[in-house]
Amino acid sequence: MHRSVLPLVCLGFVLFFLIPVPRVSAQVTKATDVAEQPQRNTQESSPPIVIAKKGTPTLDGKLDKIWASVEAVRVERPVEELLQSKRELVATADVKLLWDETHLYALWIVKDSKLSLDHIDDWQQDSVELFLDRNLKRTVFYQYDDAQYRVNYQGKLSGQGEGYQVDDLQAATAKTDAGYVVEMSILIPDGVMEPSHEMGIEFQVNDHRGKQGREAVVKWNHVEDDSWEDTSNFGIVQIK
Ligand code: BGC
Repeated sequence: MHRSVLPLVCLGFVLFFLIPVPRVSAQVTKATDVAEQPQRNTQESSPPIVIAKKGTPTLDGKLDKIWASVEAVRVERPVEELLQSKRELVATADVKLLWDETHLYALWIVKDSKLSLDHIDDWQQDSVELFLDRNLKRTVFYQYDDAQYRVNYQGKLSGQGEGYQVDDLQAATAKTDAGYVVEMSILIPDGVMEPSHEMGIEFQVNDHRGKQGREAVVKWNHVEDDSWEDTSNFGIVQIK
């Protein structure tokens, strides 16, 4: 190397280590981080809606005329991680809602080709569950107003959550050729039941076919087994 060039090369080295180089790599890292974050649940931004019509049914487990004009939503989306039986065998339900000033009513027409209660846990037996977020805050934990209501096919009631009061739930059930029917009545306190009121809601069917535990769980909206502790992915019931 020519001697007159040497000081310039040395200066180049010094500057290279002293002057900060624009951090292009930092931007790349950021983009990667975003891509690796859990994908936003698209259902979260537009939860499905079910309409509750005005009316007070007789709680008798029969398909009284009052239910005829109410549209049903289908509860049939399996929670994949809990699926242990063939899809075509999995119990599903059509659910209709009615309301009056004090109650929300749910009619469940359940298709279940093999009925079984042969498990100690209520949620592993053939049963239906309604989850309610009364103040529609969509919290990732259960608040004072959030409750889980369960009825097995023989009419046994159970539930939990800060907002669950044993006496708030009543039900009548009946066996059918295709499965069973559940008619639920849930007391809604605080005089909030009036047209245009909205609450968070999710539906679940537990399917036990006689093995060790339930062999399938299907839901209306969010296909993870978390509705009993997280209300953020519930659908919405509109009181009309
Ligand atoms: C869930 C169960 C849970 C239970 C608690 C059910 O809805 O499917 O996994 O243990 O709720 O009550």
